[in-house]
Amino acid sequence: MTINIKKCTLEDLRTLQKISSETFYETFKHQNSAENMNAYLEKAFNVKQLEKELSNISSQFFFVYFHNEVAGYLKVNTNDAQSEEMGDESLEIERIYIKNQFQKHGLGKYLLNKATEIAMEGNKKKIWLGVWEKNDNAIAFYKKMGFVQTGAHSFYMGDEEQTDLIMTKTLL
Ligand SMILES: CC(C)(COP(=O)(O)OP(=O)(O)OC[C@H]1O[C@@H](n2cnc3c(N)ncnc32)[C@H](O)[C@@H]1OP(=O)(O)O)[C@@H](O)C(=O)NCCC(=O)NCCS
Repeated sequence: MTINIKKCTLEDLRTLQKISSETFYETFKHQNSAENMNAYLEKAFNVKQLEKELSNISSQFFFVYFHNEVAGYLKVNTNDAQSEEMGDESLEIERIYIKNQFQKHGLGKYLLNKATEIAMEGNKKKIWLGVWEKNDNAIAFYKKMGFVQTGAHSFYMGDEEQTDLIMTKTLL
């Protein structure tokens, strides 16, 4: 089993757009209307938006490769790039997505370990994330990885207000 990781640059914009849209669609298509999904995909993953995020020095994107194929990606934020004001001792995992066919092969854990490594190197005290309350699969994964629920916030999928659980892991 060959797993590799690569930090994304602006040159990866199109590949990032493709994997972001594909994995988001795959994950949420069964529980959301086509209108809301399309509205979100257009807003979150248009080229300008992703270019802005890739250029933010407080955000980092990584591709994970399984046998040389892009199998998933990770986005982490620190400082002002975090989607909630959590302060400079926190790191946010904003996105962690593995394509369906590559799930349950240890790739999610591999990306989570990468996020932990970045947090430790930056002397962060905790890692946090927001996860849709109906995303049972991801919630079970985060619990397995040592995260606990510490709050909740709203998230808009198109015009629908949804609740994200905030889950946190304290670093020792
Ligand atoms: C959630 C996700 C990132 C997990 O990644 P993955 O590659 O499938 O998980 P891994 O194979 O690395 O699993 C790591 C550990 O978590 C456990 N695990 C994974 N999914 C689980 C689940 N649904 N229930 C219980 N345990 C789970 C595995 O058994 C494994 O345990 P081990 O360390 O004892 O072997 C992946 O399923 C995914 O991308 N889902 C769709 C996108 C998504 O929902 N992202 C999160 C948005 S907030």
